[in-house]
Amino acid sequence: MESLIESWDGEFVVSYFDRPTGAWIFIGVHSTKLGVATGGTRLKTYPTPSAGLEDALKLSKGMTLKWAVLGLPRGGGKGVIAVPEDFADEDREGLFLRYGELVEKLGGIYETGPDLGTSSSDMDIISRKTSHVFGTSPEAGGAGGSGPATASGVFSAIKASCEYRFGDSSLDGRKILVQGVGGVGGELVRMLREAGAEVLLTDVEQERVKQFKDNLGIQYVEPEKAYEADCDVFSPCAVGGILNETTIPRLKAQIVCGAANNQLGKLSDLKLLRARGVLYAPDFVVNAGGAIYLLGLEKLKWSREKVEEEIRRIGDTLKSVYKEAETSAITTEEAALQIAERNLSKVS
Ligand SMILES: NC(=O)c1ccc[n+]([C@@H]2O[C@H](COP(=O)([O-])OP(=O)(O)OC[C@H]3O[C@@H](n4cnc5c(N)ncnc54)[C@H](O)[C@@H]3O)[C@@H](O)[C@H]2O)c1
Repeated sequence: MESLIESWDGEFVVSYFDRPTGAWIFIGVHSTKLGVATGGTRLKTYPTPSAGLEDALKLSKGMTLKWAVLGLPRGGGKGVIAVPEDFADEDREGLFLRYGELVEKLGGIYETGPDLGTSSSDMDIISRKTSHVFGTSPEAGGAGGSGPATASGVFSAIKASCEYRFGDSSLDGRKILVQGVGGVGGELVRMLREAGAEVLLTDVEQERVKQFKDNLGIQYVEPEKAYEADCDVFSPCAVGGILNETTIPRLKAQIVCGAANNQLGKLSDLKLLRARGVLYAPDFVVNAGGAIYLLGLEKLKWSREKVEEEIRRIGDTLKSVYKEAETSAITTEEAALQIAERNLSKVS
């Protein structure tokens, strides 16, 4: 753990051992330069506590860069709750109450919301101990699910990408494949259809697929055939790690733009995408709509119009990323990081 912390460039990390459950909690406060360190709380079983710490450190840095590239007034933070394999559901309430107390003790330097393994009902529990939480349920005064807002951000990102690549932001007649029709992808499919796109979809859950095939008549592609499907845009909205040395050579799409986190198998796969002439929209820019929605409505007290405007701005940010990548002859991911670093360096 010492070497992980020593090699990390963040501000501080809180570690807490939750004796009643045996869970390790890590809160990485990577940067408060642009504002309160803000990021979700992830609950997961890790092979070792240090793997949980590593995730908290890495993800909190990711949040710093995410807010900075978007020019939003927040810093980077992330909570990781590393639960043991036999963690029981009945221990959940107590664990989240103690986590809420810990967040409260930080005095507002860190604010958190839902992430992998946590939901709005967990945020409701945390909110009994601290006000430094967002993404609670509507019954508890929260803004509700973030899926539709994330889909709106992806939609605006796809339009911006089409404008950049094809010189036309209209989606009328564009062939777009959506991989994964869950909370985000399902909403995206509806928006794309409304905009006149020719939508193809794939999912591993046949029950989910059925409603889109039966009610909207959308073309289904088998999950394994999705990569070589004939389309203009491939939109990953399912799981991470799907862009790798076996899938990238099969892609027919000229644009990859979707919500899934960590789409690349490894960073060097970006070079493979670039060599094939595929325009890759960095996921951490594309999928910010949900966080903007929850944070904007609940914490920044923005109006719905302002929230929508900020979500639409994802497309503009992306266009700056593409331009910077082209001018500096770097990958789009490198360009996004460069813009984020520049925004951070403006603040002393
Ligand atoms: N929900 C949000 O607001 C949000 C915000 C940021 C990022 N994301 C990311 O976007 C992605 C989708 O989120 P979601 O909330 O819609 O998740 P979800 O669980 O509701 O939906 C994911 C869908 O993908 C399908 N799927 C899983 N593996 C697949 C595969 N190999 N091929 C095809 N389909 C597959 C699942 O069956 C499911 O229908 C995730 O990677 C998530 O981390 C979501």
